[in-house]
Amino acid sequence: MTDTAKLQTPTKDVEYPVMSGTVGPQVVDIRKLYAQTGMFTYDPGFTSTASCESTLTYIDGDEGVLLHRGYPIGQLAEQSSFMETAYLLLNGELPDQGELDKFVYTISRHTMLHEQLATFYRGFRRDAHPMAIMCGVVGALSAFYHDSTDITDPKHRLIASHRLIAKMPTIAAMAYKYSVGQPFMYPKNELSYTGNFLQMTFGVPAEEYVVNPVVEKALDRIFILHADHEQNASTSTVRLAGSSGANPFACIAAGIACLWGPAHGGANEAALNMLREIGRPDRIPEYIARAKNKDDPFRLMGFGHRVYKNYDPRATVMQKTVREVFEALNVDDPVFEVALQLEEMALNDDYFIEKKLFPNVDFYSGVILSAIGFPTTMFTALFALARTVGWVAQWNEMIADPDQKIGRPRQLYTGPTQRDYVPLNQR
Ligand code: ACO
Repeated sequence: MTDTAKLQTPTKDVEYPVMSGTVGPQVVDIRKLYAQTGMFTYDPGFTSTASCESTLTYIDGDEGVLLHRGYPIGQLAEQSSFMETAYLLLNGELPDQGELDKFVYTISRHTMLHEQLATFYRGFRRDAHPMAIMCGVVGALSAFYHDSTDITDPKHRLIASHRLIAKMPTIAAMAYKYSVGQPFMYPKNELSYTGNFLQMTFGVPAEEYVVNPVVEKALDRIFILHADHEQNASTSTVRLAGSSGANPFACIAAGIACLWGPAHGGANEAALNMLREIGRPDRIPEYIARAKNKDDPFRLMGFGHRVYKNYDPRATVMQKTVREVFEALNVDDPVFEVALQLEEMALNDDYFIEKKLFPNVDFYSGVILSAIGFPTTMFTALFALARTVGWVAQWNEMIADPDQKIGRPRQLYTGPTQRDYVPLNQR
């Protein structure tokens, strides 16, 4: 027998089916609520709303669990590669060697950008934020690749997906190169996806760039950790934009715009800036006190999460990766010590314990990226690069979903009721 949920409304009692996923909370299917009762649900921030059915990623925030197609993020970060994880998210299963080789080959054959796009970059100021450039250039891809914008054609969707994943490192690296006034570097297909990104970012035409394998592995792992995260703000933005039939390049540009915010992807930049501002362990108590003060808007950046009410499993891997990178590059940056002590102090503080505020993925990622040599402004661009895989996989899932409709929330209207226009000279 199917479970149902009964709802008493002022006018009518109604009953709705309760749906169960393979794991996780059940959901009440209230699609008929408005038709039957004339009422909407009120859920700003969608804290209790499942916006879609999905088979990609599962999060148990209380237990600190994150699974991609069933595989725990810790196992993927330790044993997989970003390309393999991308294949998994897009196709549902881990590839065999032949499938992986074919996928990597296909992606590497799409890494170049239309040459005219280089001119497009020159329209930006040199000090433009890389995310501003990313939003513009990714949106502009739809003006360059007309042969992959018909969303009703599965072949177009596949090519657009490959193009987006393949071109994102090139676009991000070019944004960096433009900001430092160095020549753009073309992709090199003999390198790995991540090695190639490092080459395009830190290489120069004057000499051969040698990829450091520890850095390559660490960055690849960071990409895996950021690949997808269920129906977060930017993914929901991509789905919402896509629900109107917009082309995939436009949808991903919308996702990038949403990711930029400091409450979302912008937090890694904000977290490192905060750690640098704190500077010394003895100043940590002052910042903890500020974070707890209701009259101070300051928050501990890289702490707290809408879904995780436990240690973010991605932060665990990040913390380990910091040590590896610091050792490999001989980095001695006091910021890591500040981060470790801040984490310890916060985790033992009643305010953070009661509110279940733990370090999230962004708390340590900035420390690693900075050690590798990325300026803080590039951090969110790297997040966007990695999350493109999730966005593209979620967008494809949405297009193929027979229940998909244009996303159109309603509202609780509290403005003036109807009134007559008053001419200007009578006001
Ligand atoms: N520092 C201090 N207090 C905090 C923090 C923090 N980082 N995060 C939440 N709180 C407090 C809030 O003040 C609030 O207190 P109250 O109940 O007394 O009003 C309570 O904890 C709940 O916070 P909300 O903002 O209601 O929680 P929400 O789920 O809406 O927000 C968010 C989650 C936005 C991530 C929040 O924790 C935050 O701003 N963190 C800092 C920014 C950050 O690190 N973002 C990255 C998220 S991960 C990602 O996007 C990849």
